[in-house]
Amino acid sequence: MARTLTASGARPDPSLQITRRTFLHKSLLTAGVTASAATYGWFPLINTIDLAWGQTAFTFAWVSDTHLYPKNVNTRFVDKATRAFKEVQAMNPPADFLIFGGDLAQLGDPVELDLGADLLKEVKIRKVFIPGEHDWYLDMGRKWEALFGKSPWTFDHKSVRFAGLDTVSRGPDYWTAKKMTPKERMGHMATLDGSVAGAWAGVGRDQLQWLQQTLSSWPKDRPVVIFTHNPLYEYYPPWNFWVRDWREVQEILKPYSNVTNIHGHTHQVLYNEVGKMRSIGMLATSWPWPYGPEGVPALTRCMLRADPGDHFDGVGWAQLTMSAANKIENEYMMWRKKDHILAEAQLDSGCGDNGNQILSPRLADREWPYYGAYK
Ligand SMILES: [Fe+2]
Ligand SMILES: [Fe+2]
Repeated sequence: MARTLTASGARPDPSLQITRRTFLHKSLLTAGVTASAATYGWFPLINTIDLAWGQTAFTFAWVSDTHLYPKNVNTRFVDKATRAFKEVQAMNPPADFLIFGGDLAQLGDPVELDLGADLLKEVKIRKVFIPGEHDWYLDMGRKWEALFGKSPWTFDHKSVRFAGLDTVSRGPDYWTAKKMTPKERMGHMATLDGSVAGAWAGVGRDQLQWLQQTLSSWPKDRPVVIFTHNPLYEYYPPWNFWVRDWREVQEILKPYSNVTNIHGHTHQVLYNEVGKMRSIGMLATSWPWPYGPEGVPALTRCMLRADPGDHFDGVGWAQLTMSAANKIENEYMMWRKKDHILAEAQLDSGCGDNGNQILSPRLADREWPYYGAYK
């Protein structure tokens, strides 16, 4: 993947300027590392990336992966979602909008989705939504769409084109032949490393066409921000930390020099540049996932290991600011470690578990031989 996408030296917008603070991190962390993709091991508390054309300063907020259970099962996740929504509403100056990035519910239960819709009333600013797999597979999205509308969607805001894609609803039909109940179907989707659903994450032919069409009227050098639940590149397929049609996505985005993908699902601090697209993974409010043990591209610098006894640790939400100085700043609002979210030593982080990461040229080819056709 890295070879394909970086063969022409493709990077996000060449007018990008890495700030001195960021550059220092990058220099320190890439020394002695063999980069397999344009991946940089820096993650200051605030990521500052220049964007051309962002003429008016504004901020938006991201919350995702609340994984709500009904209140009579437990209230821990309810408490954390409530806290995030209250903090978004208290932002001063206010955010222009909130993007909710999927996995509102844990098992797609209408009680969970209604609970989420109720908690979201706390936030009075504009809200936009994309689904997660936990919201979808009990009733194949019926309740979700009734509450939060359909995806994909797009809007322009202060010289930035935003688009929201649904990367969760295109799972292969693994349930009909086996006569699974909706609960059984949902149960398989709720397992991070479950293999029954296979490579379910994808954008799909119709949304690819829609994306191409949507972007065709947009100048190639203006900023595009694409919201997805799953990352739009191949990070770790066995946990669906990817979309299976990432090649087609990259083909469509190729002409555009200023594309930022903001995604949920991975529940961790994550930043990568793949081809001309930069990708930022957001925190969950529910729990932090470990980093993938292998894959491509190489991991960025890792966040601190979460304290398992403190369910407010390693989780949170994010504020993203498009500044008048043409920058996008992503601030992870990690509740317990706001000032120290980055591990200083490998053993302090999820990166320490596997002797750091094993790089694999195409992990998906091993997992799902069908994808060998893409070699
Ligand atoms: Fe999630
Ligand atoms: Fe998810």
